Amino acid sequence: MNKNLWAPVLLLAFHLFTAYSQLTTGWLNIDCGNNALRWDKNLLLWVTDNGYTQAGINKQVPQKQELEEMNTLRSFPNKAQQNCYALPFSAQTQRVLVRAGFYYGNYDGLSKPPSFDIHINGRNWSTVNTSTVVEGPIYHEAMYANQGAGSLNVCIVQDESGVVPFISSIEVVPIWVLTGPLYPEMEANYAYNLVSRINFGGEEVRFPGGEEWYNRVWTRGTTPPKCTEVATLPAFLPVPENDPPNSVLSDSIESMNIADPITLSIDLPQTTPQSAYLVLYFTETVTIRKPNDTRIIQIYINGQMKSTVTTENIECKVITIYPVTVVGPTINVTLASANGSTLPSHNQRHGSVHKNRGQQG
Ligand SMILES: *[C@@H]1O[C@H](CO)[C@@H](O)[C@H](O)[C@H]1NC(C)=O
Ligand SMILES: *[C@@H]1O[C@H](CO)[C@@H](O)[C@H](O)[C@H]1NC(C)=O
Ligand SMILES: *[C@@H]1O[C@H](CO)[C@@H](O)[C@H](O)[C@H]1NC(C)=O
Ligand SMILES: *[C@@H]1O[C@H](CO)[C@@H](O)[C@H](O)[C@H]1NC(C)=O
Ligand SMILES: *[C@@H]1O[C@H](CO)[C@@H](O)[C@H](O)[C@H]1NC(C)=O
Repeated sequence: MNKNLWAPVLLLAFHLFTAYSQLTTGWLNIDCGNNALRWDKNLLLWVTDNGYTQAGINKQVPQKQELEEMNTLRSFPNKAQQNCYALPFSAQTQRVLVRAGFYYGNYDGLSKPPSFDIHINGRNWSTVNTSTVVEGPIYHEAMYANQGAGSLNVCIVQDESGVVPFISSIEVVPIWVLTGPLYPEMEANYAYNLVSRINFGGEEVRFPGGEEWYNRVWTRGTTPPKCTEVATLPAFLPVPENDPPNSVLSDSIESMNIADPITLSIDLPQTTPQSAYLVLYFTETVTIRKPNDTRIIQIYINGQMKSTVTTENIECKVITIYPVTVVGPTINVTLASANGSTLPSHNQRHGSVHKNRGQQG
């Protein structure tokens, strides 16, 4: 990452600048079923889907949501058709983040939210279980690591007769080669399905409030028992792997007792064995650690030790565990103080689990 070669002051400016230009030129936000482009309250441009698909018909949702892109959708009643969106990306793109949104809102008056599959580049991505009005929109997100220019096909598949699938929004964030390193261990031509991306110890973080340059959403984590929320010091330099926002890095959770590990349980969408990409971020607390103290944390998945991390003041340690085979419905990620540690385990911010969805054709 050549950003790191710049002097600190320059680097920050450079970072903000590239992020801004990327924001204005790169993000593609598609408001499916809408007839006109518009800017939302975050000044993001939402375009119509006319340029990206030929299939389906535009519909309005009678029961409105606050997020305007949820209030129109495109439905696909014709089973014979390929209901696909062709999303462009260039050779300079190293990764693409794709988030598809679905809000039923009883648009057909049948009070029957459908279930259907979505595919990414010809491969099964996920089952979409849409829900009733009260439950609001649901999202599916994947990171796709591509090889060269081309297009990314997202298809909505009617897999059960009589079920009419639909889609409300598609957000695409290209991640340029020069931006990295973002998820450097991801393999080309695989799609990594997001299971969760969590900000422990703090609120939900999303654009534009939290310096989140890739349109990722970091949901608020539930603080596990025997843990407390602590303020931590974000580290600006070097830019931590995957470029987590400072607002995510500046609050964390810590075990209240050195003998008690932190246990995070993560629900997986499938019960079959699957390959996971897990990232954990660790920083130290704002009350700078004393020189004679150490915090050494061992990371276990379902009781098997996978990694060890020693935290440092004003530094973000990023631990990527990949590939690791996990089996649903739930896995336990345990963070325990290692022998020799004088401080309890201290989990940071985000556990992002990406499920590898298999090789793309
Ligand atoms: C597609 O994947 C989902 C899980 O993500 C699974 O529930 C569904 O059965 C799969 N569909 C097909 C046709 O294999
Ligand atoms: C969708 O619903 C089915 C049946 O209730 C369930 O087995 C499946 O895990 C759900 N899939 C997702 C991705 O929510
Ligand atoms: C480290 O030093 C401080 C005083 O500087 C002392 O209070 C503390 O008990 C020491 N911790 C250990 C583990 O020795
Ligand atoms: C996860 O932890 C819970 C509570 O300690 C336990 O009941 C469960 O068996 C664990 N699951 C796995 C897969 O280890
Ligand atoms: C911790 O380290 C001490 C001293 O090195 C050793 O005696 C003890 O057996 C270790 N405990 C564990 C659980 O490894």
